[in-house]
Amino acid sequence: MTASQIHRPGTAEHLLDVRNLKVCFQVSDRAVRAVDGVDFHVKPAECVGVVGESGSGKSTLIRAISRLMPNLRVSELSGDLRFEGRDILGMSERDIRALRRSQGFSMIFQDPLGYLNPTHRVGRQIAEALSPHSKGESDSQRVHSLLEEVGFSDPKSVAHSFPHELSGGMRQRVMIAIALASDPKLLFADEPTTALDATVQLQVLQTLYRIHKERNMAVVIITHDLGVVAELCDRVYVMQTGKVVETAGTVDLFERPKHSYSARLIELSAHRINFRSAGL
Ligand SMILES: Nc1ncnc2c1ncn2[C@@H]1O[C@H](COP(=O)(O)OP(=O)(O)O)[C@@H](O)[C@H]1O
Ligand SMILES: [Mg+2]
Repeated sequence: MTASQIHRPGTAEHLLDVRNLKVCFQVSDRAVRAVDGVDFHVKPAECVGVVGESGSGKSTLIRAISRLMPNLRVSELSGDLRFEGRDILGMSERDIRALRRSQGFSMIFQDPLGYLNPTHRVGRQIAEALSPHSKGESDSQRVHSLLEEVGFSDPKSVAHSFPHELSGGMRQRVMIAIALASDPKLLFADEPTTALDATVQLQVLQTLYRIHKERNMAVVIITHDLGVVAELCDRVYVMQTGKVVETAGTVDLFERPKHSYSARLIELSAHRINFRSAGL
């Protein structure tokens, strides 16, 4: 056993444990610090929100954790990142892929079309993501039950569709089905409903929440919409310019924000909610 595989004592209750994460991008002759010493953890079956304005480092945080930064000019990536006690940064590409493929973590993004293959039917794309642990069911049975789980009443016809034949909300449900195919213990959702209109947003978020509860699966949801956090999350991290400026239980954050930036975000979201209810 190597040093990186030794489980760190005292963190067994954390599914994910991140200490002092730093990420720098090289942009021409300049280093841009996108994440600046972040501590972050997720417990099993917990729903955690990450909020902050655009550019505050939310996406970079979860991309670094899931080691999904292909072809990016990263000039620094450091910290202590552990999933179930295992050192993520020290893992080989093969091990990290195995973790994504089976009972580790999955991701969904704002723009499902960018991640779906336009020339393959949806059913095939879900089948390709299935974890190797079959429970005696055929692949197509498993694909159909995943499609039912994410809310489709006609899984057969959806499985036969191509991505462009589906609406934005349906495509995001398909992405969720692909993400669930590996039986993840943790799902990262990066602004999963930002591109959808309000009614569909709500339906997709309700689906995500139901699945989180039914599967006891931890979820990290990134959003700039505090209304989403208020509805779904147990705990929240507030990020500003690459740093976590506050972390709190959701109710505490809304009732007693400690940081002026959190208070401002709450105020802004209250305005948005008022606009919405006023029909503006
Ligand atoms: N691939 C990249 N190359 C250079 N800079 C990047 C890259 N991705 C993100 N950044 C920069 O890192 C910072 C954080 O970005 P990001 O993590 O996307 O924030 P958020 O998701 O909160 O909007 C921003 O200053 C952004 O410009
Ligand atoms: Mg982002």
